[in-house]
Amino acid sequence: MVTSRASITIIKLPTLPHKGREREREREMELTQRGAIMEEEEELEIWNYTFGFVKIAVVKCAIELGIAEAIENHGGPMTLSELSSSLNCAPSSLHRIMRFLVHYRLFKETPTSHGSIAYEQTPMSRRLLTQGHNSLVALFLLESSPVMLAPWHRLGARVLAKEESAFETAHGKDLWSYTAVDEGHSKLLNDAMASMARGTVPAVIEGCPEMFDGIGSLVDVGGGNGTALGLLVKGFPWIRGINFDLPHVVCAADQEWHGVEHVGGDMFQSVPMADAVFIMQVLHDWGDNECIQILKKCRESIPKEKGKVIIVETIIEEEEEERDKLKFVRLMLDMVMMAHTNKGKERTLKEWDYVLGQAGFSRYNVKPIHAVQSVIEAFP
Ligand SMILES: C[S@@+](CC[C@H](N)C(=O)[O-])C[C@H]1O[C@@H](n2cnc3c(N)ncnc32)[C@H](O)[C@@H]1O
Repeated sequence: MVTSRASITIIKLPTLPHKGREREREREMELTQRGAIMEEEEELEIWNYTFGFVKIAVVKCAIELGIAEAIENHGGPMTLSELSSSLNCAPSSLHRIMRFLVHYRLFKETPTSHGSIAYEQTPMSRRLLTQGHNSLVALFLLESSPVMLAPWHRLGARVLAKEESAFETAHGKDLWSYTAVDEGHSKLLNDAMASMARGTVPAVIEGCPEMFDGIGSLVDVGGGNGTALGLLVKGFPWIRGINFDLPHVVCAADQEWHGVEHVGGDMFQSVPMADAVFIMQVLHDWGDNECIQILKKCRESIPKEKGKVIIVETIIEEEEEERDKLKFVRLMLDMVMMAHTNKGKERTLKEWDYVLGQAGFSRYNVKPIHAVQSVIEAFP
């Protein structure tokens, strides 16, 4: 029965037998407790948003000090006094930094035989080593550099102004014009891309080796310093690789890869001819119109009958996939594109379908791999 008094609505529940009422009361209490716990969790989570930048700043400080390197070179756990004398820094400040990093499980504390505490590496801190296959230092230093942080302060203005570029407002030119005249930042960017490629390319090789069968020559469009192509040619040694990027990028490519030649140029003008094109994390830097132009140039550079374009890019799922642990990374990358490029974005499958269709591709396959990105194999 429902009784209405002014704006208050009272719902009268039917009278339950004694046991039923007990159970109902227990259930109500359980729901109230659950609600309180959720509220408490949200209350705590908001601190993470408020002071989230602290984690970035402290990890950057750990990289600059070379904490992971010192422990690695020491060959085992280090006490505070060993670490502070090795890094030549004040023990009291270092203690506070280490307390923070241990709390977030970047390093671990371990007891020594003398009854004191020493710091040891974890799988996460090893990724803060400058050298090493899994190092994320270059990517971290790029993203936390003043140049890349400045546009984040313009994100709101960009959204309000619809088309304004946050990077251009902060620096007066777009990212690629900026790197063309700033050698240091260009190296930071190319090293960061190479560190990502060292994680993604092995996943491509493992996840879709069949895509590279029968390819004699492969051009990597926007291939940076050639790391991705170098790894592909190492995995599929029958391929002749052409690393294609802006002239200042290929000129500065410092590592020689067997079977890879470097060619400088502009992908909006033309792309070197090859049996197939590989293009990784380039199209997400551009809006749909530019993306279609680049894809058309890629299509023109491969044989009509047997050619293909292998695209490695993030695909944003439209459905909420509960088991997809990487969705938050993809959404973050989309925000990075909004801050750092003029019209770049991470695309949904529907959006990929649109640009591929407009660029004249007749069909395509999508293959998920063990990485943030998926592989799209598109045919002319
Ligand atoms: C996000 S990076 C990706 C690098 C590499 N594919 C990877 O995933 O490691 C984008 C690349 O596109 C290149 N690029 C930008 N504009 C270009 C153009 N007009 N022609 C050729 N390459 C270009 C940049 O120099 C940069 O190396």
